[in-house]
Amino acid sequence: MLSLSGKRIVIAISGSIAVYKMAFVVRLLIKKGADVRVIMTPASTRFVSPLTFSTLSKYPVFTEVISEEGWNNHVEMGLWADAMVIAPATAKTLGHLAHGICDTLLAAVYLSAKCPVFIAPAMDLDMWAHPATQRNIQKLIGYGNYIVPVGEGELASGLHGAGRLAEPETILSFLEDFFAVRQLMKGKKVLITAGPTYEPIDPVRFIGNRSSGKMGIALAHACAKRGAEVHLVLGPSSLTIDHPLVQVYRVETAGQMHKEALALYSDCDLGIMAAAVADYRPREVADKKMKKSSDQMEITLVKNPDIAADLGRRKMPHQRLIGFALETDQEQQHARGKLEKKNFDAIVLNSLRDKGAGFQYDTNKITILLAQDNKPRVFELKSKAEVAEDILDITNDWWPNESE
Ligand code: C5P
Repeated sequence: MLSLSGKRIVIAISGSIAVYKMAFVVRLLIKKGADVRVIMTPASTRFVSPLTFSTLSKYPVFTEVISEEGWNNHVEMGLWADAMVIAPATAKTLGHLAHGICDTLLAAVYLSAKCPVFIAPAMDLDMWAHPATQRNIQKLIGYGNYIVPVGEGELASGLHGAGRLAEPETILSFLEDFFAVRQLMKGKKVLITAGPTYEPIDPVRFIGNRSSGKMGIALAHACAKRGAEVHLVLGPSSLTIDHPLVQVYRVETAGQMHKEALALYSDCDLGIMAAAVADYRPREVADKKMKKSSDQMEITLVKNPDIAADLGRRKMPHQRLIGFALETDQEQQHARGKLEKKNFDAIVLNSLRDKGAGFQYDTNKITILLAQDNKPRVFELKSKAEVAEDILDITNDWWPNESE
């Protein structure tokens, strides 16, 4: 199945010399079988006439919320679309979208859209490099939008640099990749454990660790992007995630995480154990803040449940389980031992020796070991978002193209 066939795409155009490239984008989308509606800001119509786009898309082009045709229902269009592409997005449009300023039909449709939004900026190099523009881009990424990177080269001003609108083929392949990847985990339910656990000593003190929860949250994002329904059991992390396909269960202790994970896993197709669970907890928890008295103090610790091992024991033939390992010596040997002992289908090994990898970093360097073969998959240092994609790619063989 072609990924764009039958997809409903809103193309939203703002005023830049690069508007002419959008005629090619619309043509390419129509050729791929997409259903396309075009909206334009009034300024953009001075570069290319709406007639070009209405002829190519075979639908009227709207430029105002209220026009001679009447009221153009921006809410309806925002809900109709499977994807919205804002291109070219000028510095002004980026600023308006980042701050929710709704002075055009384009901004109204954007604010009403429930679908993924792709933004392809276009402007002169200094405007692009300005901190205000870059901050707006970060804001828009933070809202969950996808940015199609600008190209480098000759600009309309005659200057050379970054700021060109991405080429039509690039914009198209961004959409194709998104829809192709999106289908891969549709219909699957995934349980993810993430973050540290805090084991209380008394009402104010606890035993914990430095896990940030970043890797597990990146995995939750990546699963949701592939269409999976995600249940994220998250320890005390300062981070969170807001995504319609991700349900978050906040917990503090290993005991609470164990209870939630056990209740959820039986209904899931995949478990990903990314949490840094405390192995031990204080045997007794004081109900009042402990007072300073003698020079030494002893706390007796008892073992916590091993959540991953328990899920491994309960794993049904159709279910899969991925674990993590952080080792300091004989890394692969220890990780493989853990994979077998806990009945994992795969284990993700991060090494403390690699700079930039592990707790609290935005990057990670992993090796994946699979139960099905002895060939370690070694990856470069990458952002945790990219690492999450590499981890999920191993599941492609477990459920090949079921949804295609
Ligand atoms: O044995 P170790 O702690 O190194 O195993 C790491 C893996 O087991 C990770 O996937 C971690 O999330 C999981 N684990 C767990 N419950 C524990 C300890 C570890 O789920 N109590």
